[in-house]
Amino acid sequence: MSAPTLQAAPATRPLRTARTRHYAMCPPTHFDVVYAINPWMHPGTPVDVDRALSQWAGLVAVFESLGHRVDVLPPAPGLPDMVFAANGATVVDGRALGASFAHAERRAEADLHAGFLTDLGIEVHRPQHVNEGEGDFAVAGDWLLAGTGFRTSTAAHAEAQELFGRPVVTLHLVDPRFYHLDTCLTVLDDLHGQATVAWYPPAFSAGSQAVVARLFPDALEASEADALAFGLNAVSDGRHVVLPQQAGQLAADLAARGFEPVGVDLSELLAAGGSVKCCTQELRAPRTS
Ligand code: ARG
Repeated sequence: MSAPTLQAAPATRPLRTARTRHYAMCPPTHFDVVYAINPWMHPGTPVDVDRALSQWAGLVAVFESLGHRVDVLPPAPGLPDMVFAANGATVVDGRALGASFAHAERRAEADLHAGFLTDLGIEVHRPQHVNEGEGDFAVAGDWLLAGTGFRTSTAAHAEAQELFGRPVVTLHLVDPRFYHLDTCLTVLDDLHGQATVAWYPPAFSAGSQAVVARLFPDALEASEADALAFGLNAVSDGRHVVLPQQAGQLAADLAARGFEPVGVDLSELLAAGGSVKCCTQELRAPRTS
């Protein structure tokens, strides 16, 4: 009897496929650092709004050059963190869970964001519990990964599961420098329904590290230096990964896995503790199947 034929392993790295995305972004017209709600913020730090605006416009141009659609959320005076549009809601399957900010300084952003989404024809569920949108919620395949520890409450995780009908995996954040999930974990693709993530394990509790390792055995680990450069605050379309250009090792590791890293300079926004992903909210369309 001859031995069963084994399927040949792919000789090359996987072919990464981009999917066209729809983003909401808000220009840093009123950007400033006048309060401190994370360890990166030092009120009194001089802020160059023109530089922030041109860096932000560069990010918009990158997304558009990749074929993505960007809708602009109008900025409002007195809300210096509004540029971080990812925090304003979570949009999955064409439905939105509105944000409820942990800190009073940002609370007024939630209604502006909800009104903007409503005008786009997206139904917004008003939240009952504190959640900071895609700062702490990440879609990974059919699941939602959800951070807690500094901002979003676990009650909001349950609220999101009920609204979206997707399993929510709670992950505990333990390092205040990585106060949102999107500062220490990024979803790169959904290849064959199995998501690939990159992350910085020390930002998570021991139990949550074990959960991520179990769900994503291929997860890419970022160095501390790249995590501190906000390298994980990245936006991927499945093929192109837009990330801060300072995260050089991570970019090289992504390329080795078949992704195309696209480095951008958003250094001015680091004074408020944010970068690429913080500026970018994804508007996910209703499911077609
Ligand atoms: N200064 C903002 C805050 O602390 C930064 C938000 C960054 N956004 C993000 N999605 N991580 O709330």
